[in-house]
Amino acid sequence: MVKTKIAVLVSGGGTNLQALIDAEKSGIIVSGSIALVIANNKDAYALERAKQNGIKSAIVLKKECASQLDFENKIIALIEENDIDLIVLAGFMSILSEHFTSKYDHRIINVHPSLIPSFCGQGFYGLHVHEAALSYGVKVTGATVHFVNEIPDGGEIIMQKAVEIQEGDTPETLQKRVMVEAEWKILPLSVEKISKKIIEERR
Ligand code: GAR
Repeated sequence: MVKTKIAVLVSGGGTNLQALIDAEKSGIIVSGSIALVIANNKDAYALERAKQNGIKSAIVLKKECASQLDFENKIIALIEENDIDLIVLAGFMSILSEHFTSKYDHRIINVHPSLIPSFCGQGFYGLHVHEAALSYGVKVTGATVHFVNEIPDGGEIIMQKAVEIQEGDTPETLQKRVMVEAEWKILPLSVEKISKKIIEERR
């Protein structure tokens, strides 16, 4: 079986990248293989995780690009050069415009740390999402994996998992519980689901 070639786009710690690497090793992901990691931050610990696991990586810095278009074109060039079939945004803190998303319809997926359509869209990323959930006072939050289109966090939902908020939660404790109970589970499962679908569509 020719596996789906996956690129993972990251900006920070890369715990979701690690969940994907572990899922490939443990056989949760069998239809795809991580072929490339692209970071928009040279200090992203995710780069270290790629290195430790022998995965090719690249860095594209926005500040070294003439424009958003130039930034996206550099990423597109890497995706094309490496024959990537599926792009996974795993804590990638940069919004991609329609120029990028329309090239890869139903071929880009993102993990977001809330139950979309709550606490999502522009400005809702990382810890801010959990701060917003706690300040609203919701009792249940979670994570969503969805396809990426031109609307931030607006693409078709692939999987969701709910997580209960506990008395005394801080944004940090909630972020960790959402990662452990939801993100690190549904992201690998979604990647396998879509990778398998891509292979089936090739037949
Ligand atoms: C994760 O919680 C991810 O869902 C979130 O950033 C964190 C990255 O952690 N992404 C967003 O907020 C995107 N809107 P990681 O680098 O350890 O995977």
